[in-house]
Amino acid sequence: MNNAFAGKNILIGISGGIAAYKAADLTSRLIKLGSNVKVVMTKNATKFIHPLTLESLSGNQVYHDTFQTTERYDIEHIALAKWADIFVIVPATANVIGKAACGIADDLLSTTILATEAKTIIAPAMNTVMYQKKVVQDNLSKLEDLGYIIIPPGKGRLACGDWGEGKLADVDDIIKILEANLWQKKDLQGKRVLVTAGPTIEPIDPVRFISNRSSGKMGYAIAKACALRGAVVDLVTGPTHLEPPTGVNIHSVESAKEMYDTTIKLYENVDIVFKTAAVSDYRVQEVATNKIKKGSEPITLKLERNPDILLELGRTKKHQILVGFAAETQELEQYALKKLKDKNLDFILANDVSTKISGFQSDFNQGTLFCENGEAVTIPLMDKEEFAHRIVDEVIKHI
Ligand code: CTP
Repeated sequence: MNNAFAGKNILIGISGGIAAYKAADLTSRLIKLGSNVKVVMTKNATKFIHPLTLESLSGNQVYHDTFQTTERYDIEHIALAKWADIFVIVPATANVIGKAACGIADDLLSTTILATEAKTIIAPAMNTVMYQKKVVQDNLSKLEDLGYIIIPPGKGRLACGDWGEGKLADVDDIIKILEANLWQKKDLQGKRVLVTAGPTIEPIDPVRFISNRSSGKMGYAIAKACALRGAVVDLVTGPTHLEPPTGVNIHSVESAKEMYDTTIKLYENVDIVFKTAAVSDYRVQEVATNKIKKGSEPITLKLERNPDILLELGRTKKHQILVGFAAETQELEQYALKKLKDKNLDFILANDVSTKISGFQSDFNQGTLFCENGEAVTIPLMDKEEFAHRIVDEVIKHI
């Protein structure tokens, strides 16, 4: 299973700030992702959120007293420190940050920070003035230099009524950073990957355009999978509503022509190209400068061909591995194999977009990956993130 969280031991440290309640959401989500979660709290944190909440969500005893002992009579901070695959402090107050930066260990949380060899992630949350104080910033820089991972707080309305920096980072972002740090299979380390994703849009006039139903989900999932596996990833994307994956270089484009120019510029230095974008094959020949007004007569739009980006990549291919995507509604295999050959590809993923279950907007996909050596692998219906890893697995075998 391509899940960075399954079976991992995640230790959550909660210190005394109003954002402590968000640690409950984090605990619940990590449990759903298959991790084992234990929680250690400062005395002040127990005033913001009851340990019973964390105990119920994690299914484990919650630790908040330096002198509690485990059944095995291990010293608790050492037992917890050794148990953790990763340690995340959510929220981290100025006090805990200061203690960690100075090596002070005077309660269970600060002692565990000092005692663990696990990667430690710190998500600060506090009042803006406190967060911006030089001493706090210096402590954070010192921790970063020491190898701690800091998740900067967001901006917004704070519990004290102020607006500004200091709001705990989104739980979604904390999960993304945990995922990137827990992922172990780094089989694309040292490789550079180019992914194109989403639709392109071709203007008709200043307010209208021609486009297609591509959501970009498949391409974003591939970009994320490759980044997790250690590659440097360039994602050339048409307009989508998706959050960009963490650790990926984003190149936003609109038209096929812009996608062509950006892709060709990046092509020289990449090792693998995943061409998932649904590129508009045609553009409007004469784009109106002003909004077209309606009249009683039918109107005709004259369309001209856009460049075929993948055809050009295939024509100029040197060391690169090219993976095309054939979205078809009929004669799937026949059309896909023709594209594999005509565009000089190494792989083509053929998928049927006529079904709702694995079509353009769906979170799921299924299809057959054809290789230029004649091999074919059928990948059954699964979540697009899992599907992306399966495609990457096959491509890596080829390298
Ligand atoms: N593609 C491209 N540039 C285009 C059209 C397609 O790079 N102008 C790429 C797509 O990103 C995809 C592959 O070619 O990886 C196949 O795209 P698809 O739309 O399925 O096929 P086309 O080659 O456009 O052929 P047709 O529309 O006739 O099916």
